[in-house]
Amino acid sequence: MKLLNAAQIRQWDAFTIEHEPIVSLQLMERAANACTRWLLQHTLADVYYIFCGKGNNGGDGLAIARLLYNSGKTAKVFILESDAKGSEDYISNFNILHHLSAIPIYQLRSEQDLPVIPESCIIVDALFGTGLNRGLTGLAAQLVQHLNNAQAPTIAIDIPSGLFCDQSSRGQSVIRARHTLTFQVLKMAFLIAENEPFFGLVHLMDINLLPAFPDLVSTPFHIINQALVQRIYRPRAAFAHKGNFGHALIIAGSYGKTGAALLSTRSCLRSGAGLVSVHVPEKSVAIMQTGAPEAMVLPDADATTITRMDYEPDPFSAIGVGPGIGTGIKTRFFLRELLERETSSLVLDADALNIIAENPELLNLLRPGSILTPHPKEFTRLFGTQEDDFKKVEVAISKAMEFNVVIVLKGHRTLVALPDGTGFFNISGNAGMAKGGSGDVLTGMLTSLMAQGYSSKEAAIMGVFLHGLAGDFAATARGMDAMIATDIIEHIGKAFEQLF
Ligand code: ACO
Repeated sequence: MKLLNAAQIRQWDAFTIEHEPIVSLQLMERAANACTRWLLQHTLADVYYIFCGKGNNGGDGLAIARLLYNSGKTAKVFILESDAKGSEDYISNFNILHHLSAIPIYQLRSEQDLPVIPESCIIVDALFGTGLNRGLTGLAAQLVQHLNNAQAPTIAIDIPSGLFCDQSSRGQSVIRARHTLTFQVLKMAFLIAENEPFFGLVHLMDINLLPAFPDLVSTPFHIINQALVQRIYRPRAAFAHKGNFGHALIIAGSYGKTGAALLSTRSCLRSGAGLVSVHVPEKSVAIMQTGAPEAMVLPDADATTITRMDYEPDPFSAIGVGPGIGTGIKTRFFLRELLERETSSLVLDADALNIIAENPELLNLLRPGSILTPHPKEFTRLFGTQEDDFKKVEVAISKAMEFNVVIVLKGHRTLVALPDGTGFFNISGNAGMAKGGSGDVLTGMLTSLMAQGYSSKEAAIMGVFLHGLAGDFAATARGMDAMIATDIIEHIGKAFEQLF
């Protein structure tokens, strides 16, 4: 699914108005109806303090005030005054409300006008929407501060006021909403970690914008959803045999970190590879053979670390390397040798990335189409510190292009950055997965998918989605706090089932 920017969303409104056809005021009414229904269903308050700007976001707020009033609620409207005349639809809704004369309208012209806000009311933020084109200053910034200091919860319409849709809002005055009711589709701002304090829980309000529009525009950003992954997934043929599903190799573990090898191997086995081998330090062999009897174990010559490849890498259709291997000198030599010799597709994670970060020339040895799976700290070690999280997205994509690799930047909204300059955000998964071992599970899944012949782009998109979905099932079964990485592995099968 394409992730549209603010300008494209505005064009989508206009496209719907022209081709449905519908007048813009009616579209605003649709948006206000959807928000009002949500407010009536999900909030218990009787009084709503509705703060409006003078653009269309403010128009939405005025229409919501009227609809709440019609539903028996008390609404008070506060207009952030400015020299602006107000958008056409704002003015129309203002006039309707004015003639109704049942809803008090207060004009905010200076700090003295800012109202006392009772704890028991609901604040509706309709000051600025995706039309924000500069940071908030003056009275607007004071009002945001005032609302953020209030005890009452804030529900933002479209996007919290002051939050930019497509660029960083660091250092800006931004509403801190408990819920955001956004129209039709997610916006980039909701996928970026640094914005988490502002938007709370995001709810999509369907306002029936015409579905044909997104096909007419191009965008570098996409959202990974089930429909996309279903298109990638290839069901297993009934007459297939294990040779059809590739041979995956996991290289993982060191003394005290055999668990990482176990988790990657088990998740690799659970993700469909025909054969799975695992290269571990000699002392880990017994644990691996007990913990993952379906895998073949290749012992290292060293008892406690990965040091040597005493086998040909060629038979493997994909290799996942890194979980728990440490960054010792012998392992570093090993990784260099692997990168120099290797012809299979590689998934590089954890300590493999830390070794590369210390020896950045290794980046030039990466085979095209390799997948790198850094978490934010590993990403910083590899590519330096960025001034904000939007910049991080930009850098991930530019590095994917520079080294011709796929970069999976892990987080709540994992980004799959591709060498063609595009970025895919994953929206499955939950905070219960923020635990040691989750990344090892992902490495095993990605290696398994690559071994089966999925391209690195397909494997990365499908792998992060299924990983998150398995995590969601694990959270339902065990609870977010209690779930562990093993629970994710145990729900991989159920995640795959959703693709049938
Ligand atoms: N300080 C002061 N003013 C600012 C600032 C700022 N920091 N940033 C932007 N503004 C001004 C802009 O200059 C603009 O005013 P102008 O039109 O006089 O130039 C105004 O604030 C923009 O305000 P917004 O309400 O944020 O933007 P817009 O009017 O584009 O509305 C919209 C956004 C359409 C409501 C969006 O939130 C949405 O999708 N709503 C749902 C659908 C809907 O209701 N559509 C409306 C009818 S259809 C149509 O709009 C074509």
